This record gives sequence, C-alpha cells and structure tokens, in this order.
Amino acid sequence: MKLWGGRFSKSTAKLVDEFNASIYFDKKLYKHDIVGSISHAKMLGKCNIISEDESIQIVNALKEILQDIEAGLINFKVEYEDIHMNIEKILTDKIGDIGKKLHTARSRNDQVAVDIRLYLKEEISYICGLLKNLLITLIKISENNVDTIMPGYTHLQRAQPITLAYHLMAYFQMFKRDYLRLNDCLDRMDFLPLGAGALAGTTYDTDRDFIAKELGFKNICENSLDAVSDRDFIIEFLSDTSIVMMHLSRFCEELIIWSSSEFDFIEMDDSFSTGSSIMPQKKNPDVAELIRGKTGRVYGNLFNILTIMKSLPLAYNKDMQEDKPLLFDTVENIKPCLEIFTEMISTMKIKKSNMKAATKTGFMNATDVADYLVKSGLPFRSAHEVVGKMVLYCIENNKNIEDLSSEEFKSFSSFFKDDINDKVEIKSCIEAKVSQGSTSFNSILIMIEKGKIFIENQED
Ligand code: ARG
Repeated sequence: MKLWGGRFSKSTAKLVDEFNASIYFDKKLYKHDIVGSISHAKMLGKCNIISEDESIQIVNALKEILQDIEAGLINFKVEYEDIHMNIEKILTDKIGDIGKKLHTARSRNDQVAVDIRLYLKEEISYICGLLKNLLITLIKISENNVDTIMPGYTHLQRAQPITLAYHLMAYFQMFKRDYLRLNDCLDRMDFLPLGAGALAGTTYDTDRDFIAKELGFKNICENSLDAVSDRDFIIEFLSDTSIVMMHLSRFCEELIIWSSSEFDFIEMDDSFSTGSSIMPQKKNPDVAELIRGKTGRVYGNLFNILTIMKSLPLAYNKDMQEDKPLLFDTVENIKPCLEIFTEMISTMKIKKSNMKAATKTGFMNATDVADYLVKSGLPFRSAHEVVGKMVLYCIENNKNIEDLSSEEFKSFSSFFKDDINDKVEIKSCIEAKVSQGSTSFNSILIMIEKGKIFIENQED
C-alpha cells in the first residue's frame, strides 16, 4: 500500500505510478533528504514530540540507510514515488512503527524544499570555486601578456590598439560579477523551509531554529506558505548561471575566431582540439564550440522553470516536481564547462607576434591622431574630419598613418608638429591612454593587482 493509501479504495494505475514518480531523478537528493530527516528526528526528540529513545533509533537507522545507499545495496522503487517516501518506507521496514513517527510535524512539501536548498547550497559553493580558479587563471595569463599588443574591435572591425591582458581582464570583471552574483544567491536562499508543514505550519511546538543550526542555515523562512511555494532561489540560480554561460559563450566565440587562419592569434593545445573524420588537415575548436552550444540548454532551463512557476497558485502544486531535472541539468553542465574552459585557456598558445602584426593595418591610431590635434587646439569634430581625410589619402596611396612623413602630416593641418611621428606609434597610443581603467600598461598592472587582492579576500 502507498504511504498515503488510507483514503483510497483502489490502487493507482501503473501508468499513473510511472507518470507521477520523481524517483528517477530525485534519487540524487538521497543524502540531503537523509541529513534533513536526521535533524528533524533530533528536533522531535529534543522537543518531546517523540521520545528521546525513538529519536535515537530513527537517527541511527537513517545513518545506516545512508551507508547502504552509498554501498549500492538499495533499490529505489517507482511504487514509492519519490526519494522522500522511498526512504521513509525503507526506514519503517527497518525499525517498524517507530519509523512511522518520523513524518510527524512535517510534510513532503517542506521536505523537498529543504532537500533542494541543501543540494544547491553545496553546488553553488562548488561552482564558485570553479569560477575562482578561472579568475586566478585569467590573472596568470594576463600577467604574461601585459605588453602583448593586439587590435581592439568594435563591430568586429579593428578599432584601437589594446593589450591581451586588458582584453582578458575585461573577462575577469565579468566572471567576478558572476562569482559575486552566485554568492548573493547563496546568501538569499540560506533560509530553512523545513517545519513549514504542508502550508500552514504545524500544531506541534517544534524548534525550527534548532534544525536551521543543525543543517547550517543562517535563519528560517519567515512565512510557511512562502517556504513551501518558493522556487525563486532556483530561478535566481538559473539566471546567474545563464549569465555565466553567456560570458563563456562570448569568450568561446572570440577564441574560435582567433583560432581561424584568418586571425591566427592563438592555437588551442592538441589536447583541447579535435580533428575531422574526412579532412586530414583539420584542427577544430570543438570544445569552445560545445561550451558555446551548451549555453542554449542553460538558457532553456531558465525559461523552463520560469514557465513552470508562472501563475502557480500558492502553495505547493505538483508542477513544481518538474523543477529538478532542469536544475540538475544546469548544474551538471556548467561544472564541466567552467572546468574545461579554464584548462583550455591555460594551455592555449598565444601568437603574440601575429596579434601585434594585426595592429599595423586598419588605421587603429586614427583616434590618437585626432586627439593630438585637439590637444594642439583644434575642436574635436574638425580634427575628426582632418584625420578622416588622412585615412582616405592613406587608403588611396596604400600607406599606414605611421608611415606618413612629417611633411605629409603638416599638409593636412598646421597643428601637426614634428613630434607627431612618435605619437602615432602603436605602442605610444597604448601608453597614452592615461584615463583610469584604460588599456595603458600601468593601468593594466593596477587592474591585475586589484584582481589579486579580490581573490585573496575570498574565502575558500
Ligand atoms: N516529489 C515531489 C516533488 O518533487 C515531492 C513533494 C510532493 N508533495 C506533494 N504534496 N505531492 O515536488
């Protein structure tokens, strides 16, 4: 008979059993379910809701069940629907009527909510660790590339010269925000739903603070109706991870472009590339492409949960059982993406001279020439026009701006003086970016230093 079978005169259809069950996927939560139940049983004993001895027997039996599951000795049954009822059934089979007392003063609604929170708290901490490793790796590569000059782009057209370290430290900022966002998410979800009962609280004089402390929650959920209805923390986690994937996908896209023969800025290590089954010469950036592709499923999972939760009346509805497969899917996908991405960028070869050579064409110092004129007294808009004409002249005569003689410069404007030729060197253009947070070598060193301090101040 089902644990809830008392009011039924017929058993459920087999098809319904299979359809209704979540054990296929929520068995993943066995440890969190048992840990939650142990704290609950301890609390029941402490508050004299069950006897001290009964509490001890339940706790010991649950610990044994945990060991048995980990030893692979337990087969969960679809008949018992989910992880909560499977474990309760194993418990009652083991210790009889005393086991039947475990579900006093709780419901599966608060039980599943606490299980997911326990699971997700662990996973977020792990993912934050992976993000931290990525941040450390970005710092390391940046330190080796403070003076690696490369083109900076807008519209994927060469725009202004920058350095690779500057480019990488932009990603550092993005992943730092991701790290902080996930920590915020962790902080906001750190409230205990257990003890909420089905929706209205319980008639027993329980001690929810005791359980919160036992399970490591900073506080309890204030409103029990909210406690069992809330899946905001999943939505928040899936939003945060969608942003992480978006950042990874942008980075991967750049790495894919940079590995093309057209750019030839980097070469992925052989251990992070794949070949073609037909074209013997091919070396493909499959890993970066796959991370870019997996962004789609992580976004999909976010839309999935948003749609499940849309318009759901309070409190628990069975729709909410569908939250787990998509949550697990994101967790299981983002972890390898972060891990592999970090390893991939630390092993890739950076072709510094190709990057630098690419700054020679594209008139990337044009803005600097305009700035020169402005500093000599010409209004910016007029300077823009002068340099535009110079660019046209260079295109027609197949020259770069830095190749022009000072006579040629002067023929475009009397504001040009002899020092212009030094000022238009690509390296000088980078050095001249004196504003805070710019690509200048000094500014990058400051960014790297701040980045290191940020990492040192994070707890493990
Ligand atoms: N398996 C259910 C889920 O994952 C557990 C909660 C069931 N509660 C209920 N009232 N049917 O959501």
